[in-house]
Amino acid sequence: MHIPPVFAWLSAKGNIVNSELQRTFNCGIGLILICSKEHADTIAAKLKHQHNARIIGEVKTRAINGKQVVIDDVKFTANLDGVKRNLLAPKKRVGVLISGNGSNLQALIDKTRDSAFGCNAEVVLVLSNKADAYGLERAKHAGIPFKTISHTSFKDASNPRVAFDAALTAELEQAKVDIVCLAGFMRILSEQFVDRWNGKLINIHPSLLPKYRGLHAQQQALDANPRDTESGCTVHLVDKGVDTGVIIFQERVPIYEDDDVSSLTYRIHKAEHFAFPHALKMLANRSYL
Ligand code: GRF
Repeated sequence: MHIPPVFAWLSAKGNIVNSELQRTFNCGIGLILICSKEHADTIAAKLKHQHNARIIGEVKTRAINGKQVVIDDVKFTANLDGVKRNLLAPKKRVGVLISGNGSNLQALIDKTRDSAFGCNAEVVLVLSNKADAYGLERAKHAGIPFKTISHTSFKDASNPRVAFDAALTAELEQAKVDIVCLAGFMRILSEQFVDRWNGKLINIHPSLLPKYRGLHAQQQALDANPRDTESGCTVHLVDKGVDTGVIIFQERVPIYEDDDVSSLTYRIHKAEHFAFPHALKMLANRSYL
């Protein structure tokens, strides 16, 4: 169960015991939909991205003299303690690298600023290798420092890729960045960069890895024979390979008969905007590794 931080704050500041917290406050549950068990997964999947729906329990016959609502206290306490710890911890500083539209950047900005989401991170810097990347407008609009570092400026260096990546690292270090997110950053990174940010560098890829690494992942999914019936996105730690690092989070979407690249890309994008902030939260809140 996800407990929004405000309830952890209330519990700590008001010295409220868990039973009271459960009985008096809803702990973030806005609406409960009850449906047959066979439809639960489908309905939850349909409502997940837009309404943050999740399965929180089941209706059972009540035991004689049993409680009306039975809460898993061990899980509840563990979750609440985790949220309390994060309230006290300094926020992780996030640098986002982009090359284009930046819709994933936008999702990261929005969700890290959504106090109910409880991600212990803030986007403090946006770097692009393209001056015309629309994501830079998004950063500007959000009041987040941003900069273009063009990879073409390093073409005369003895190793242009390493020199470009060193310039990125210098900016990220100056901004005291803890975690780097690649959000549509269309450059292969050098070993030096990957080593420097080892364990703190995550990428989003539009397929269910390990399937369809590299470019045109959506087309690869549509071209499969027999055709795949589902696709999705993956957030993974970056290692020295291309899209090979440890998987942190995956989100699945269906592939329909009449899908083309643009309809599938659109559906995957919606899943990405859900997956990337969740993966960042796992890393920033240390519920991963
Ligand atoms: C996303 O589809 C992501 O998976 C890929 O690049 C795209 C970036 O989209 N790595 P946006 O710029 O975030 O809209």
